[in-house]
Amino acid sequence: MISTYVSRLRLSRDLPLSRRKMLFVSPLQRLRVLQRSTVNRKLSDFVRVVEVGPRDGLQNEKTVVPTSTKISLINRLSSTGLKTIESTSFVSPKWVPQMGDSSEVFTSITKAPGVSYPVLVPNLKGLDAAISSGVKEIAVFGAASNTFSMKNINCSIEESLIRFQEVAKAALKAGIRVRGYVSCIAGCPYEGEVKPSVVARVSESMLEAGCYEISLGDTIGTGTPRIITNVLNEVKTIFSRDLTLFALHCHNTYGQALANIFTGLTLGVRVFDSSVGGLGGCPYAAGASGNVPTEDLLYLLQGEGLQTGVDFEKIVEIGEWISKQLGRDNQSKVGVALASRRR
Ligand code: HMG
Ligand code: MG
Repeated sequence: MISTYVSRLRLSRDLPLSRRKMLFVSPLQRLRVLQRSTVNRKLSDFVRVVEVGPRDGLQNEKTVVPTSTKISLINRLSSTGLKTIESTSFVSPKWVPQMGDSSEVFTSITKAPGVSYPVLVPNLKGLDAAISSGVKEIAVFGAASNTFSMKNINCSIEESLIRFQEVAKAALKAGIRVRGYVSCIAGCPYEGEVKPSVVARVSESMLEAGCYEISLGDTIGTGTPRIITNVLNEVKTIFSRDLTLFALHCHNTYGQALANIFTGLTLGVRVFDSSVGGLGGCPYAAGASGNVPTEDLLYLLQGEGLQTGVDFEKIVEIGEWISKQLGRDNQSKVGVALASRRR
């Protein structure tokens, strides 16, 4: 005990005053202090919110949502200060009929200056259609689970990575930005546990293909802070960079999305995908519910003193509006609380 104290005392001589105290506290206290200092350092940062409601939120609706409702949703979201609104998918209508009106939706929305309207594109056919509609940003979407990849895009992980390279190359040549998704980062509906090393390998390949950012999808919402920490620490090793190349895309099926997002925040993630009113789910992940509601995400970020540039009140109104249009309960706790307070 005494020798430990003496060796720490010797060690502390080489450290700045602020760090010396750390040697004399328990490991748990040390972790808390380090976490607090990380959070405090990051709290002044800006967080980019990627609204995915019009795409991820609507793709799983059982009855076809009128094209006019989709257009109105995107136009309303465009007036909130959001800088990225994922608007639709150029996928096979045989696979996802709900997105069969992608060209009409994309060409009819009013594009606000400074706002990006990415669309999902699974292959060159989708890219061609997107280019014809005037799309300026696409997202390719892969998975860290082979079975999910087969069910979702009808090819293995390896095949998908080759496909993404072709799509990304053609897109970049046409001056189109490319984002990448990796699904099932915290578990697969078919295979169960997913290795963080596979998430890292798929992410690395997609970054090398030219994606400017990888959105890590907890597709079925089974992740908990420990799993998310392991995944983020693993992907952090890519190109020896920090987490600025990564976003978190948390579905809220098990109610863990905000806890996982807070974990991401403390580790340095500064981009989060969310869905107004908590709309959504994935057609190839049975039982998966929507993304974290944008209202709940904004409430958390606001509470942490972080800036987003998004008008919270307008988002709450849109959450109420779209829930009514779809005849479903608003999935946002914050939205419901504020609406009942107003009433
Ligand atoms: P396939 O059957 O292997 O494709 O599906 P194919 O090339 O054999 O073509 C089959 C038919 O589809 C053909 O038509 C093609 O022309 C047509 P036919 O000759 O029979 O009349 N086709 C297309 N039509 C329009 N646009 C296209 C297109 N491609 C082919 N782009 C394919 C492969 C990838 C096309 C299919 O599996 C597909 O569309 N999958 C999309 C599934 C999807 O959208 N899933 C939801 C999005 S992912 C998600 O939600 C997760 C995420 O949110 C992150 C997370 O939460 O983790 C992103
Ligand atoms: Mg999703």
